[in-house]
Amino acid sequence: MTKNKNNRAIWGRRIKGTPSLLFQKVGSSIDIDKRLYKQDIAVSIAHVEMLFKQKIISFKVKNKIVYGLNRIEKEIIKKKFEFNKKYEDIHMNIEKRLFQIIGVEAGYIHTARSRNDQVITDFKIWIKSSTIEIKSIIDKIIKSILKLAEKNIKTIMPGFTHLKSAQAISFAHYLMAYVEMLNRDKKRFNDNLHNLDENPLGVAAISGTSFNIDRIYTSKKLKFKRPTNNSIDTISDRDFVLDFLYSSSVCSMHISRIAEDLIIWNSEGFRLINLSDKIVTGSSIMPQKKNPDLLEFLRGKSGVIYGNLLSMFTILKGLPLSYFKDLQDDKEIIFRSNDTLLDCLKIFDEIIKNISPNKKRMFELTNFGYITATDLADYLVKYHAMSFRDAYAKTANIVNLAEKKRKNLNQLTLKELKKIEPKLTKDVFRVFDLNYSVDSKKSYGGTAFGNIKKMIMKYKK
Ligand code: ARG
Repeated sequence: MTKNKNNRAIWGRRIKGTPSLLFQKVGSSIDIDKRLYKQDIAVSIAHVEMLFKQKIISFKVKNKIVYGLNRIEKEIIKKKFEFNKKYEDIHMNIEKRLFQIIGVEAGYIHTARSRNDQVITDFKIWIKSSTIEIKSIIDKIIKSILKLAEKNIKTIMPGFTHLKSAQAISFAHYLMAYVEMLNRDKKRFNDNLHNLDENPLGVAAISGTSFNIDRIYTSKKLKFKRPTNNSIDTISDRDFVLDFLYSSSVCSMHISRIAEDLIIWNSEGFRLINLSDKIVTGSSIMPQKKNPDLLEFLRGKSGVIYGNLLSMFTILKGLPLSYFKDLQDDKEIIFRSNDTLLDCLKIFDEIIKNISPNKKRMFELTNFGYITATDLADYLVKYHAMSFRDAYAKTANIVNLAEKKRKNLNQLTLKELKKIEPKLTKDVFRVFDLNYSVDSKKSYGGTAFGNIKKMIMKYKK
């Protein structure tokens, strides 16, 4: 067994020179991967328990190592652990400290493993728990949205396509669209949990190991479904990193789009929603201002999160199998995306709790843009036996007439309407009623009040 003097690197016997400070600075990842300490210790404990079970190490050595690791964990939690750049990363910082605490028996811990399999095992476990946290925050947001939607089933506003008034919509229907987006995010993150559920530990550096290890045992201990199949692929694979970054990107893109909706609706031109004072900021020069800074933060951060996905793709492009130092940056990239996304999700939940629709203004805006024109065309098809194209043409003529007379559709007289379609009776006026318009969209997924209620109930369950 090699004695490890604590002031030199683990490879100090082979490599005589000490690296320059600059190399230490760029080569060391401890400032970043110290976030993996809990996972690293759990993985090491599972590893030595397996080594003992397989009679590769003795009971005494196993116990000493487990004792040392638990002590290290406490030291780190109590901030009494000294992380040292000289020992590069979390794995070697912990191993070094283990030597200080239990002595030479620490030398058995790295039997039948490498940092190559160790780091991805730690990392997968970390990503797993973060994914679970993200999913639970998304759940919280969905709950907040449902609460707001429930109160606004009958709140009618114009729905927009091309940002032009299109058709009448329930505000709750917009909100439920956001629920769908977030629910897909949740599912996407959940799929990742299944895809990363294979245990890398035991593939060692690249080829596996000559020791009689039990990878199924460590898989169970570390709550993985099964061990990975191929040692070379295992240490090269960062698909699970891309999956997390992609899911984060899509989720942040959703938040960004919703934020933009809310920014537009809050602008002076629209005034469809109010933001409470908790979520706006002022201007240093314009005393009257209440700016939606937080929403802009959400809109912008998707750019940062996409950047991280692209960084990782670029690192992986053309990288030969198997492990290379290039891969070390995966942690920093994930941590940045994760932290940014968590901030965004928490802020988003606060925002949902602090917006309210300006119902009067929503109603007012439905008076512009002839938003019941499609309802009129549908009416002509249903009650006057026309093809949709004929009805569309007749309705366009009616809209032209209304525009010429500077009237809304419902302000035209029956006489005026009859000039364009003589078959019309006064029954036609019901199509201009907004409640009728919204509630008539009963097709599955449409904005009818009953549909929305059912959807809210479904999600509440
Ligand atoms: N800190 C390293 C990383 O995250 C651990 C793996 C080191 N492996 C190696 N062969 N140098 O990439």
